[in-house]
Amino acid sequence: MDKIQDAIDILKIYNQEHIINLLEKLEGEKKQELIEQINKIDFHQLKELYDNTKKEIEIKENKIEPLPYLDKAKLSKETKEKFDRLGEEVIEKGEYAVVTMAGGQGTRLGHNGPKGTFKLDVYGKGKYLFEILTENLKEANKKYGTTIPWYIMTSKQNNEDTYNFLEKNNYFGYPKEYVTLFTQGELPLLDKEGKLLIGKDMKIREASDGNGGTYFSLRASGCLADMKERGIKWIFIGGVDNALLKMADVTLLGMAVDKGVQIASKSIVKANAHERVGVFGKMNNHPKVIEYSEMPEKMAEEVDENGELKYGEAHIMCNLYTIDAIEKISKETLMYHSALKKNAYIDENGREIIPEEPNSYKFESFIFDAFEFFDDIAILRGKREDDFAPVKNKEGVDSPKTAKELYEKFWNNQN
Ligand code: UD1
Repeated sequence: MDKIQDAIDILKIYNQEHIINLLEKLEGEKKQELIEQINKIDFHQLKELYDNTKKEIEIKENKIEPLPYLDKAKLSKETKEKFDRLGEEVIEKGEYAVVTMAGGQGTRLGHNGPKGTFKLDVYGKGKYLFEILTENLKEANKKYGTTIPWYIMTSKQNNEDTYNFLEKNNYFGYPKEYVTLFTQGELPLLDKEGKLLIGKDMKIREASDGNGGTYFSLRASGCLADMKERGIKWIFIGGVDNALLKMADVTLLGMAVDKGVQIASKSIVKANAHERVGVFGKMNNHPKVIEYSEMPEKMAEEVDENGELKYGEAHIMCNLYTIDAIEKISKETLMYHSALKKNAYIDENGREIIPEEPNSYKFESFIFDAFEFFDDIAILRGKREDDFAPVKNKEGVDSPKTAKELYEKFWNNQN
């Protein structure tokens, strides 16, 4: 009884009376589930997130400067060898783990299922994105005589499908005891008036809280504790949708060790002012990535005295951390970004409405917003043709077609 009253009280305080109406209509298990859900929601946080959608994001160019980086292709032979040796040592000692963020929905790609289960049409037979990542890790294991623990972040929505897919494919030959799946959190969607949406299952509609949720979920799931137990000192976090991702780049790792930094990242040169990638910068003396969706156009187009893009170091989701850095970030609160999207809902007459225009806010934190918690980041500029073959859109740029070409070109050159 108390739980029902608590739920009703909080809904009243936060002007969500339509959910009270729904509660009154439901019975039994469905009612219980909704009450549980309501009592887990942080309404105060949600109100703040909604209020923030009314504020302009302010990115003032004069507060931002470009970040220094080292270019992998221009390192002297001695420096490159030194970095590689340092990196190799970490991996050989079993102090390196890898996290793959695979909680995204891949809506733009139009693939029905977790993105990692998308088959890229390479070399006739084709390869799944998860298979490509596994091959990359297996190659590193062979080279450095170890088995790198692999943690895969899923969403509530795709966890079961991801697990079943990996089981069915026997983890593409990766030792199963070294693979751990963990699930990221969710946040409710809000309509333009700040009201919660009701889903077909008569629950409040929630969606993944963005890839910035990785840090908290690593801790909450026990993966961080598991890493500590295994003696891990360095953690690489990468995306699921780059067919040329190098998950064990010893030059990047060795550079981070040599520089004594807590975080490091690999960049590539941004292809053009409007490429949909985040770029590195320094804001108020802290490392930052300015996401493409939030970058003022003028700033994106700005060039330096050599005619090159002033903010031209692209973030390719190739990020490295000490375990202490992950621990620290996992206890901090990252900022949330909001995006207006189309989300179906049940109206007051019980009808499902499929909107034609964006009708509701989705809230996400971004993985790179954690960089601001540090004074320094070491950046290694890699090469587009070696490091970046994104699979984002169904057609055109960053599509399966472009990724296939880049992937095959890279591997043809290796053999
Ligand atoms: C992302 C980067 C962008 C970068 C670009 C390079 C972010 C916020 N943006 O943009 O700076 O230049 O990749 O390709 O990272 N994911 C989750 N859970 C979520 C949301 C996403 O695990 O809730 C995962 C996805 O599965 C994917 C990765 O995060 O592996 C990137 O997500 P996506 O939303 O596709 O980012 P982009 O817009 O492509």
